[in-house]
Amino acid sequence: MKATELLREDHEKIRDLLERLKLAGDKEDLLLTVEKEIKIHSRLEEELFYPAVREVNGAWVDNALDAHQQVEELLEDLIDAAEEESEFEQKLIGFEEHLNAHIDEEEGKIFPEAEERLEDQLDPLGAEIHQLRGDLEEEWREAA
Ligand SMILES: [Fe+2]
Ligand SMILES: [Fe+2]
Repeated sequence: MKATELLREDHEKIRDLLERLKLAGDKEDLLLTVEKEIKIHSRLEEELFYPAVREVNGAWVDNALDAHQQVEELLEDLIDAAEEESEFEQKLIGFEEHLNAHIDEEEGKIFPEAEERLEDQLDPLGAEIHQLRGDLEEEWREAA
């Protein structure tokens, strides 16, 4: 599977998790899953996908790395607020806004350009992403 297809699937999964989080009474397990999925997804992009994108546009990658940093900080805040219903709701809105803006940037601009200009790299990159995801999931299981 192409790298961009795998990464789009991740986005879809993360969006679904956030929808579930809005309705969940007990948030703890879901938050842990959100944290795991976002951190794994960011690593896959940072280690494998973005280095290839840098050949197309370095500034896009720099912006994307900043966005990852910000999303991760907001996520830490969100996790810290898990016990406070109203604070949590507020933080979830802010978190989702930042996350969606970044996902839109990738799906609307970076991925289509990569699909055009890095076409022959996307299948091998997809295989590497699949492999690294397996390793990272193993790490999370061991740490749990
Ligand atoms: Fe990203
Ligand atoms: Fe992404």
